[in-house]
Order: sequence, then C-alpha cells, then structure tokens
Amino acid sequence: MNVILLGPPGAGKGTQAAHICEKFNIPQISTGDMLRAAVNAGNSIGLEAKKTIDAGNLVPDKIIIALVKERVQSKDCSNGYLLDGFPRTINQADALKLQGIKIDYVVEVKVPDDDIVVRMSGRRVHLPSGRTYHIAFNPPTLEGRDNLTGEDLIQRVDDDETIVRGRLKIYHKQTEPLVKYYRDDAKIAASGSKFIAISGVGSLDEVKDRITSALIS
Ligand code: AP5
Repeated sequence: MNVILLGPPGAGKGTQAAHICEKFNIPQISTGDMLRAAVNAGNSIGLEAKKTIDAGNLVPDKIIIALVKERVQSKDCSNGYLLDGFPRTINQADALKLQGIKIDYVVEVKVPDDDIVVRMSGRRVHLPSGRTYHIAFNPPTLEGRDNLTGEDLIQRVDDDETIVRGRLKIYHKQTEPLVKYYRDDAKIAASGSKFIAISGVGSLDEVKDRITSALIS
C-alpha cells in the first residue's frame, strides 16, 4: 500500500503518519525528517539545505527527488510506504509517475491557517526520531523530554510565526495545486488511486479515526 499524506505545514501529517504506519506496517518516509537528519550529519545535502529549511522555503526538486528515489528502493519499502511531505510540487509528483510508482491513496488533511500558527508555536520535536509533541494538545510525559528515549525535545527554527506564515503561503501556491492533480488522477480508473479529503481539526484521536476508517473502507 503506497500512501501520500498531503496537507499544509503543521496539519498533523507527521503525528498521523506514525499511527498509519504502525497500523498498516509500512515505513514512514518524511522528506522533512530526512533533510533534518542530513543537516545534523553535516553532509553535503544538509549543508546545502539548512538555510533553505530554516527560512521555510522549499529545497530544490532535484535534491528531493533524488533522495526519495533512493529511499523507496530500500528493502523495507517492498510492501509499500507512506510519503509524508512529498510530493510538494507538480514536478515532484510528475517524477513519481515517471518512476512508475503507483499510489493507492492520497489523503489530504485540511486545517485552517490560523489553527496551524497555534499548533506550530507549541510544537516540540525529538530530532533523532522525528517524534512530535505539543505542549498543550499532545504533551510528553516529562516536560521537554522524549517519551521513549528521555532525550531533549527542541523547537524548530522554522516554527517561528513569521516563518510559518511564509511556509503557508508557499503551501497554497506550490503544493495545494496537487489537490486537483490527485483528484483528477483518482477519476482515471487506470490510475487505481483514491483521493480522500479529511478535516484535521479536532482531537488527535478524532483525526486518527477519520483517516483510519477512510483507509479501510
Ligand atoms: P517538513 O518537516 O515536512 O514540514 P511540513 O510539511 O511543513 O510539516 P510539519 O512537519 O511542519 O508539520 P506536520 O504536518 O507533520 O505536523 P505535525 O504532526 O508535526 O518540512 C520542513 C522543511 O523541509 C520544508 O519547509 C522544506 O524546506 C523542506 N522540505 C521537506 N520536504 C520537501 C519537499 N518535498 N520539497 C521541498 N522541500 C521540502 O503537527 C504539528 C503540531 O500540531 C505538533 O505540535 C502536533 O503535536 C500538533 N497537532 C497535531 N495534530 C493535532 C490536532 N489534531 N490538534 C491539535 N494539535 C495537533
């Protein structure tokens, strides 16, 4: 089962991806996590991407497409995978098609911009794993500590309100057109792909139940 999670920054894609991947036993491929790991490792991709990520801009298609192409060939992807944060441009979606990759479900998670700004201001992240918390809506058991490892949680540089507003603008301009792209695809029987739009507003469990029931129905 190949799934794409589509939605604005802070819609809860990473949070929900963890549940979907556990339920359907598929790996989560988060291009954001992959880029942050590259930045942490200080490799050439990380060095090139850091400024772009911190400023909330999109990393060039060429870099991202190469990263994903390599990742989906790994052994753990043989039964499917969940793409979180990819594709984000029409070019990236076309690259998946050119690669002959069949997408079974595209799930769009919809959240209004103002809710997103609130979510991002309270987000805390465990960098090594990508696990995400919220100080009010999904707090860790121990303040400032990851539940599994006890390691420090951080605030992402790109979660600053001004940068978040910029990321939302980029989302509406460059990524939202993918909603029509995949809705149109789902109308073509041969694509075999289904498009599901759900509201990402409500408790974490409510959103999880909406996504799970749409995927198993
Ligand atoms: P990336 O890390 O992918 O960021 P994003 O898509 O902007 O998404 P986020 O991780 O910010 O949010 P999310 O939807 O996963 O929300 P979360 O679950 O954390 O990308 C970062 C950067 O990398 C990009 O800006 C770009 O530079 C680069 N990049 C990555 N992929 C790229 C690509 N394909 N092309 C080019 N560049 C690329 O939830 C957010 C918060 O809300 C959390 O605190 C969470 O606890 C809370 N929350 C979740 N659900 C709820 C709920 N129902 N109610 C209340 N709070 C909730």
